[in-house]
Amino acid sequence: MPHPDEAAAPASAQDQPADAEPVDRPFVLADPLAWFDDVREDSPVLWHPETASWYVTRFEDVWRLLLDERLGARSPDPFLRRLTAPERAAVGPLVDFLSRWPMFLDPPRHTAVRRVLRPAFTPEEVARVAGAVQQGAVVRDALAAAADGMDLLETLLRPACRTAVSALLGLAPGDVPRLVEWSEQLMGFVGRSRLDPELVRAAEQALGQFTGFTEQTLAAASSPLAGAVGGAVRTGVLQPADAVAIYAQLVTGALEPTVTALAVALEVLSRGPRYRQDYRDDPAGFVNEAVRLATPFHFAARRTLSDLTVRGQRIPAGARVVLVLVAANRDPRRFTAPLEFRQGRAAAHVAFGRGRHACLGSLAAQHTIRPVLDAYLAETDDPRPLDIEWHVTMGMKWPVRLTVRPA
Ligand code: HEM
Repeated sequence: MPHPDEAAAPASAQDQPADAEPVDRPFVLADPLAWFDDVREDSPVLWHPETASWYVTRFEDVWRLLLDERLGARSPDPFLRRLTAPERAAVGPLVDFLSRWPMFLDPPRHTAVRRVLRPAFTPEEVARVAGAVQQGAVVRDALAAAADGMDLLETLLRPACRTAVSALLGLAPGDVPRLVEWSEQLMGFVGRSRLDPELVRAAEQALGQFTGFTEQTLAAASSPLAGAVGGAVRTGVLQPADAVAIYAQLVTGALEPTVTALAVALEVLSRGPRYRQDYRDDPAGFVNEAVRLATPFHFAARRTLSDLTVRGQRIPAGARVVLVLVAANRDPRRFTAPLEFRQGRAAAHVAFGRGRHACLGSLAAQHTIRPVLDAYLAETDDPRPLDIEWHVTMGMKWPVRLTVRPA
């Protein structure tokens, strides 16, 4: 699943700040999490020339900088700076669309969008979403099939998360896969070393399809979110293109991280009676610790609005700064034995971000996960352990298989 934070493009010479320490730390793409763990210990504020970005990895710094007003939203993509003028003109409408995504906005636009969205994430709405997942959870069928070696991802995890996202967005669950496909096409041209006309055409086509679909969804207003966004378009608070951008961000940003966190939670639950008791004792605490351990989005990317000094390193205005959430959540200074699942950790984590861009769907994600865990526990007194195969990229982690371990 692509995400705009992934695959930052190579830097050009003018991206290099004059006083940055030259550090020879090429990414270890095979194991980015371990690479960030190392960096956190010896270069906690690292300038990385290949991606023209500063990486901040210690919990204490990430926690503080998430609230720092000197950091604004990231720009849609640094690679655009390297395009020629005709290339830029060719992708102008697509870039205009991307720049409307909530994660790319600063106040006052960002504040206006959050004001529209927040009322659609009430506890009542979260309970409605959890109810939809509970009704739709096909745990018994999925587990019966899994005993024959089938993958639980497609039979249980993705359907449950699709149900939740479609209930929130006011869609039919069957619509979600094509929306995901359009979102992938929308972003497909970003982050490449050169502009590919084929990918630009595919993105333009996907934008047209996504726009038509969003218009219909808003007109039907079949969820509080669809009602709120549609209402804001009718009253002129949002442009129609803003509504499409919100829907595109929600489709890409809501589904896969919830699948990832659910996979971790289920795997932990399958480890033995102690973990099942942990869940029964404190379901919210259990899911919260699973989300920390999962930290599906590795980065919160920002841009410096003015000069900033972190741990003695001067970061100039206009620089790309990546707050590495996943490294912060594995910082042993904050979390003892950070790679272990430990119920009841008192310390807050940053898997949902913090501050202005903090995840609006955090409660919805947790209440998507819980009905699946409840149903799993109800179906299996003595579950066999689950095995997860991960795909880890520079920016995201997601499961590619979740299977019951053979007896
Ligand atoms: C376990 C699942 C999830 C995780 C780990 C997660 C993580 C995050 C993170 C880290 C951010 C902040 C990014 C930043 O600061 O740059 C964020 C923002 C956001 N997320 Fe989530 N998310 C999850 C599920 C969801 C769901 C289910 C929804 C909605 C249906 C959602 C909607 C949003 C929205 C609207 C934003 C705000 C964007 C902004 O204001 O810039 N997320 N999420």
